[in-house]
Amino acid sequence: MNADYKRYLELVEMHMVDILPDVDSKSLTLYESMKYSLVAGGKRLRPCLVMAACEFAGGNIQTALPYACAIEYVHTYSLIHDDLPCMDDDDYRRGRLTNHKVYGEDMATLAGDGLLTTAFEAMTKDMFLHFDNEKELKKRIRAMYDIAKGAGCSGMLAGQVADVENEGKPGSPEMLDYIHINKTAAMIIAALRAGAHIGGADDKVLADLTSYGEDLGLAFQIVDDILDIVGDAKELGKETGMDEKRGKLTYPSIYGLDASYKRVDELTEHALSVMAPYYDNAEFFNDLVQELASRTK
Ligand code: IPE
Ligand code: IPE
Ligand code: MG
Ligand code: MG
Ligand code: MG
Repeated sequence: MNADYKRYLELVEMHMVDILPDVDSKSLTLYESMKYSLVAGGKRLRPCLVMAACEFAGGNIQTALPYACAIEYVHTYSLIHDDLPCMDDDDYRRGRLTNHKVYGEDMATLAGDGLLTTAFEAMTKDMFLHFDNEKELKKRIRAMYDIAKGAGCSGMLAGQVADVENEGKPGSPEMLDYIHINKTAAMIIAALRAGAHIGGADDKVLADLTSYGEDLGLAFQIVDDILDIVGDAKELGKETGMDEKRGKLTYPSIYGLDASYKRVDELTEHALSVMAPYYDNAEFFNDLVQELASRTK
């Protein structure tokens, strides 16, 4: 793992639970179920991207922390709901039983709602601290907007809708890209843009990180599809073979495994070319996209 990734990861792990709001003793189950999925582990890719983009743009990673934690809350909520019996119906996630298997479907739904809402509470709380500094406040509003948009009806949710509606259908390459770009790339792009805003990125840096995120995000979901076939369940912390079982529209289901590997390589090359003008300053981003491709090898 890249040394910077480790540094970002440690900071996120250290603060993620602290930023959760206090709960009434009568709602302790909610807090416990939210925490159960949150502390289970996970790669923390999205919060690390927030921090990396912030630093790349010249900002201090501490200032990005509330937004980094917020996007991990949103992501964790999306996983809890994605695993529900009415969605992908999965029993394992992040190396443990899925939230609904432990707390029941009612509480798992609420834990997801809790994490999503908490994300926006954490971000607005940070905005209050910068209420009288218009420049700093604007950066934060832009960051939150990108996170909301990436998670929302023209982002992750749009992809999830198309994902479930196309189960068991032959599907088309256009639909496949629509699903992957929205359900996964949108949040990865949002993480990069949010961090870039907080770090004070100019338009060029913002556009390049967005373009890099499009490649990384799509490659990330293709790798997830590939690993569902060739990966090790223990290592992944979730069951494999589930996409075929549910008739999901995936890269391997449409193009086959070899073409899927090739597409990941093409996206990796393109991502590297986008960041090439930054030379060593883009080392984190170059390492990350290359390590992603090597996850399947
Ligand atoms: C899983 O995301 C859902 C997808 C978008 C493929 P991650 O693979 O980032 O899951 P964690 O956060 O590491 O558990
Ligand atoms: C999920 O995609 C994307 C989300 C928005 C959570 P998948 O359904 O392929 O993710 P896994 O394989 O369950 O982690
Ligand atoms: Mg799914
Ligand atoms: Mg799933
Ligand atoms: Mg998957």
